[in-house]
Amino acid sequence: MKHLLKLLDLSTEEILDILNTADQLKYELKHGIPHRHLEGKTLGMIFQKSSTRTRVSFETGIYQLGGMGMFLSSRDLQIGRGEPVEDTARVLSRYLDGIMIRTFEQKEVEDLASYGSIPIINGLTDFCHPCQILADMMTVREHKGYLDGLKMCYIGDGNNMANSLIVGGLKVGMNVAIACPDAYQPDQQVLDFAAGYGDKFLMTPDCMEAAADADVLFTDVWASMGQEDEAAARREIFKGYQINNELMKVAKSDCMVQHCLPAHRGEEITADVFEAHANEIFDEAENRLHAQKAVMVLTMGQQ
Ligand code: CP
Ligand code: NVA
Repeated sequence: MKHLLKLLDLSTEEILDILNTADQLKYELKHGIPHRHLEGKTLGMIFQKSSTRTRVSFETGIYQLGGMGMFLSSRDLQIGRGEPVEDTARVLSRYLDGIMIRTFEQKEVEDLASYGSIPIINGLTDFCHPCQILADMMTVREHKGYLDGLKMCYIGDGNNMANSLIVGGLKVGMNVAIACPDAYQPDQQVLDFAAGYGDKFLMTPDCMEAAADADVLFTDVWASMGQEDEAAARREIFKGYQINNELMKVAKSDCMVQHCLPAHRGEEITADVFEAHANEIFDEAENRLHAQKAVMVLTMGQQ
């Protein structure tokens, strides 16, 4: 695997290879087994948006693999003053062994990969959040023992999380149901991909219909980073697109709940459902570390 730009680029085998490698790296970490696969390598981490989990898990992960992470805020880079991505990519490729980037436009991530010569890892764009979904799949598989045939349901905005969950879920054999308001559907490119999966994919404005018999329920914030000005309007539009005890009743009795975090209790999820499933949600947050270590090993380790 050269890069991780979006899950649409990966085969099912590549996704499962990442999950298996992540399980192995987690086992090694927990048992004190050295796994310094990226000894002496440097990962640049470009952030154009805020982050807690992505920043800390990548920086810790590369350190555990024997390398180092370099935090690069776009406020301090010349990219923030207009230096073109194509030049930044070619310069950073001369110093670094890999780049993780969190930004707005997917095109910026794709351009970094086109113009640079080192692995590029997408740490979230407006279009997708592949690292998060790899950690999510890892967590569901840990708790349920398998993925193929499980029903995943996502409630809320048809955003980066929805886009990646649809692609990742379908590629690993899950049935995927999405409930979002008509005007806030996932990206057309993702809907075209999902159309190839027939009745394994359902999209509806009705949360109860989507959540029926679900094995795992996902949600995400109503207003993503960059949409702060729309937050008040979105609170009205998304009212009802919430994981709460009523919704849990129509899902399977052993249904898991996942949230990429940060969570807004009382909006997309109630505080009581969040706390009842906190163990699964914080396992999911932990697994960012292991899944991303796998991605770094499988990209930067091949250089
Ligand atoms: N879930 C996630 O990506 O968290 P951060 O925004 O804190 O990195
Ligand atoms: N949809 C959210 C995910 C945060 C991890 C956002 O883009 O802000």
